Amino acid sequence: MINQQKLIRGWEIPEAACAYHETRSAGNGAPYYLYDTSLIRRHCRQFREIPYEPKSIHFATMANINPEFLRVVRESGLAAFVNSPIHLHEVLQAGFQARSIVFTASALSDESMAAARRLGVQVNLDSLTQLQRWFALFPDAPVGIRCNIGEQVTPRDTRAGYFLGKRSRLGFTTAEIEAIAGDPRITGLHLYVGTDIDEVDYFIACYRVLWRYARLFPNLDCLNFGGGFSVPEQDEESFDMAEYGRRVSRLMQEESRALGREIRLALEPGRIIGGTAGYFFCKVTDVKRRGDHQFIGVDASSTQFPRPLLYPDTARHPVAIMRGNAKAVGSPAASSVYGCSTYSRDFLARDADLPAARAGDWVVLGHAGSYSASARTDFLGFPPAEEVFL
Ligand SMILES: Cc1ncc(COP(=O)(O)O)c(C=O)c1O
Repeated sequence: MINQQKLIRGWEIPEAACAYHETRSAGNGAPYYLYDTSLIRRHCRQFREIPYEPKSIHFATMANINPEFLRVVRESGLAAFVNSPIHLHEVLQAGFQARSIVFTASALSDESMAAARRLGVQVNLDSLTQLQRWFALFPDAPVGIRCNIGEQVTPRDTRAGYFLGKRSRLGFTTAEIEAIAGDPRITGLHLYVGTDIDEVDYFIACYRVLWRYARLFPNLDCLNFGGGFSVPEQDEESFDMAEYGRRVSRLMQEESRALGREIRLALEPGRIIGGTAGYFFCKVTDVKRRGDHQFIGVDASSTQFPRPLLYPDTARHPVAIMRGNAKAVGSPAASSVYGCSTYSRDFLARDADLPAARAGDWVVLGHAGSYSASARTDFLGFPPAEEVFL
């Protein structure tokens, strides 16, 4: 189990968030997400500032599908990456241009392929049989393929498991890529290295391998390196975007020059765009003592703040108690924050060291801007928490 204490040291809730919270905490007690849009914009800008051109940056909408979040991202100059027809519909509604949208999924039905083709979005397919199906439906239609180059690198076990190598279900193996070498209809190669990775070296090593396969396709115009950029936890550095930008640009320049034509760089950042910009607020409704342990009950469920439910061993969120508009202080006790259902796993935080809480206080969970609101589930019967953008 994760020790939250290490994670909250030095974690601050921005003044604007405290001020907003004060205006509403006296009244409506319903749980809500609060987003710092200036931070979301800053993260988008960091990707736009990667020196290499041509490039396109596609926000991975599974991290956050809220229409207002999408608006902020679009206005910040990013395109979108989606992995389902419903998210495709959502980003079109939010005003993203169809031809700028990347659609990468697996085991697509004929209907999903046809919808993507009709709209003119950029499609990446996940297997040889999917590719054969695509060409049976649309014989001359250009398309990209997702590559699993795991045999050429040492795959990392990232937070959500393996995305490369034999333990990953995703993408064309290197033998399968070689089997279609020379096909003029393959215009893009796609790679997803893993999630929450902080090592620029690992990204670049994987990208270098993908470049070897780029040479096999005469009409290739884009290399899509996916996402996976880490969000810092306590005592960790932020992902080194400046270093990453320099190194990925240098690689693209050198390899494009050697190839004799410019290849577009595409990226699909998800978690890093809004992860640290989101906070989840919920009201304390009960406090129980069991020996030395404090159980803090709130008027929310982990189905509304679901990362601890989905990833009980790895979800890491800083947590604090707010009293009025300030963090509560006091000697810390081992604490858990539990949801107001009867489900035994309904915990929003475990093993946090928190001061004594009382009914009427608020619990604030940080790093709640990615894979949080978008991952909620109807299980247990709680409504979506409101999402507020500052
Ligand atoms: C293909 C692809 N691209 C991008 C992303 C976004 O990844 P991250 O949030 O780690 O940046 C994902 C997430 O699963 C993905 O599957």
